[in-house]
Amino acid sequence: MKNISNKNLVVANWKMNPNSLVEARRLASQVEHGLLSIDRTKVDIVICPPVVFLPVVKHALHFGQAGVQNISAEEKGAFTGQISATQVLEFRVKYAIIGHSECRLFGESDQVVNKKVKISVAHGIEPILCVGYGLKPSSSLLTVKKVIKKQLQVGLAGIDLRKYLLTIAYEPLWVIGTGKPADPAHAQAVMDFILSFMPQVRVIYGGSVDSSNASEFAGSRIQGVLVGGASLKTTEFHKIISAFTKF
Ligand code: PGA
Repeated sequence: MKNISNKNLVVANWKMNPNSLVEARRLASQVEHGLLSIDRTKVDIVICPPVVFLPVVKHALHFGQAGVQNISAEEKGAFTGQISATQVLEFRVKYAIIGHSECRLFGESDQVVNKKVKISVAHGIEPILCVGYGLKPSSSLLTVKKVIKKQLQVGLAGIDLRKYLLTIAYEPLWVIGTGKPADPAHAQAVMDFILSFMPQVRVIYGGSVDSSNASEFAGSRIQGVLVGGASLKTTEFHKIISAFTKF
């Protein structure tokens, strides 16, 4: 049986940044240093760097955890360019972002997402399953619910939610990297919808989160955020984490 995590979760998705090992080491060290003065009793902090930087990032982290931005749907073998769960476990990775819109954009289906979720949990890696790909600013709440329900039903088929820790990140495609986040009330309504049929999961929000809006997403049923651009600026990122230490 899983240990239910009531903690909030703030995840840095560095995407294909920074450009060098030196910068990755510096950024991870700065993030870690700031964690010393942050109350971490209510929040877990995860950094998902490009995998080539995992060794230096893992080395720099003590209070923060390491995660990956993607994982292979296969265990091992002739899969050019893929990285397996077993390989990333060499760096004691605890989390894997799965089904991010920027991966789905390149053809990753819900079925592939499902294989990745299965492989992750089988290896003790907590999936951060992203849903929201395909949505438009004009999508009605009804459409949003329909799209998300399908992504969750297929993406989590065969997964016993009583057994594994799992985080769902609601990231409507149209808010990623735009500087314009979703309306917190909308995000909240979607989270409530997800929790209405899977109360066992942790739900977080992602898309254009920064220090000026993070607190609008904190304090409700939203248990954290997935942060892209703002996670590359240390001060910004620390402020975002702080917003999730208060409840
Ligand atoms: P953003 O990215 O914060 O830069 O919008 C979020 C994400 O893609 O996970």
